[in-house]
Amino acid sequence: MSWLEDNSVVVTGAGSGLGRAIVRRFVEEGAQVVAFDKSEDKLHDLKDKLGDTVETVAGDVRSTADNDRACARAVEAFGKLDTFIGNAGLWDFNRSLPDTPAEQLASGFDELFGVNVKGYVLGVKAALPALRASRGSVVLTLSNAAFYPGGGGPLYVASKHAGVGLVKQLAYELAPEVRVNGVAPGGMDTDLRGPAALGLSDTAIGEVIPINDLMAQGSALRIAPQPEDYVGAYVLLAAKAQSVTVTGSVFDVSSFGILPRFNG
Ligand SMILES: NC(=O)c1ccc[n+]([C@@H]2O[C@H](COP(=O)([O-])OP(=O)(O)OC[C@H]3O[C@@H](n4cnc5c(N)ncnc54)[C@H](O)[C@@H]3O)[C@@H](O)[C@H]2O)c1
Repeated sequence: MSWLEDNSVVVTGAGSGLGRAIVRRFVEEGAQVVAFDKSEDKLHDLKDKLGDTVETVAGDVRSTADNDRACARAVEAFGKLDTFIGNAGLWDFNRSLPDTPAEQLASGFDELFGVNVKGYVLGVKAALPALRASRGSVVLTLSNAAFYPGGGGPLYVASKHAGVGLVKQLAYELAPEVRVNGVAPGGMDTDLRGPAALGLSDTAIGEVIPINDLMAQGSALRIAPQPEDYVGAYVLLAAKAQSVTVTGSVFDVSSFGILPRFNG
């Protein structure tokens, strides 16, 4: 039997990259998924590829009403909600504090934290009644930047550190009904973009830095992971039978935590 047979799941930022890989793998594992993203084009493409196994909701994770719609769709379509996966994110392209123009800083902060932190808070709030009813769980996408400096500038690194706090506090508040955990992936070549307020919304991470080369040379395991390589941790945490004792944990799957080992 598959690990997620008949599980009902909402995934935010499901249109590309890691979110899309999570949707594909969850469907393979037997789940029914609501894919929530701001990009209607990406959602149409996902629906074309995966068909009736996936419901799509176009909206902004910074909106209470849009989060409510996504979670309500899961309950309407599948009769319940077992797992909410907060994953939509923006990066700051390593923009340092000294290099950020003062007139962009406040709006850039609000936009990035609005997606990376407020989006998770609003999403869990919207999902909570259904998760309590199903004794379900939350999984939040964090990052190597949730633990270490250098995976972004101060806005991104602070937002992902805030995600660790959210996992711990929400696990504490929502026990014993709802488990809350995080997954911290490392670099991957996706469509990840930055805040428009910082002028960073028109290019993707892979267009600006050679992320595959950096990972292959700089990560402890010397591999250039693809989004699919990170999704096993999500399956494990969503599958109640596999992780019934796990809450308040962040699985660091980033391969950054250990410095590369050199022979000789
Ligand atoms: N790519 C990396 O190197 C990397 C490394 C560590 C962690 N992450 C994290 O992985 C997660 C997924 O990012 P990705 O790399 O797959 O990027 P991605 O851009 O391919 O996917 C993110 C999706 O979120 C959507 N999105 C952005 N803002 C939104 C909003 N306001 N409302 C709804 N949807 C919105 C985008 O349309 C996009 O489809 C993020 O939380 C990111 O911080 C990425």
